[in-house]
Amino acid sequence: MTKIAAIAFTLVAMALLPAAPAAAETIAVKLPELTPEAQAGAQTFIKNCSQCHGMIGGGTDKGPPLIHRIYEPNHHGDFAFFRAVQQGTPAHHWPYGDMAPLPNVSEAEVTAIVKFIREVQRANGIE
Ligand code: HEC
Repeated sequence: MTKIAAIAFTLVAMALLPAAPAAAETIAVKLPELTPEAQAGAQTFIKNCSQCHGMIGGGTDKGPPLIHRIYEPNHHGDFAFFRAVQQGTPAHHWPYGDMAPLPNVSEAEVTAIVKFIREVQRANGIE
């Protein structure tokens, strides 16, 4: 009896735990022809974000792909990019750990980065 109770308890506890984050993932991203603003954003992105998010947002072993359904505009609006850069973001979707804030990246630069990411997302069927 106690054994069954223990198993039942374990099953309930497992059901109550928060869902495990998605496994780490990198994505082969197709690079479209970019507008000039997105090109500027790409340069800032490569300098400040690519070491974790990949050269064109396909992800690395240090950060998630941003060219991913999770980051489509309806799920992570442009606001999420400004917030992530200004305040950082705690690990919640992935197993990589927290993202630290990047105070040297200006709002204008994030605006261009968002333009870049959205153009690449659209070219990869994420909108
Ligand atoms: C040192 C590694 C690192 C760098 C550099 C980095 N990021 Fe991140 N970023 C992460 C990690 C890790 C996450 C995932 C957190 C999670 O959801 O588990 C993340 C998540 C995000 C998110 C999602 C935020 C949310 O609301 O879920 C955005 C947007 C983002 N990063 C944008 C950027 C941009 C733009 C830059 C460059 C200006 C950048 N990151 C630089 C590691 C990094």
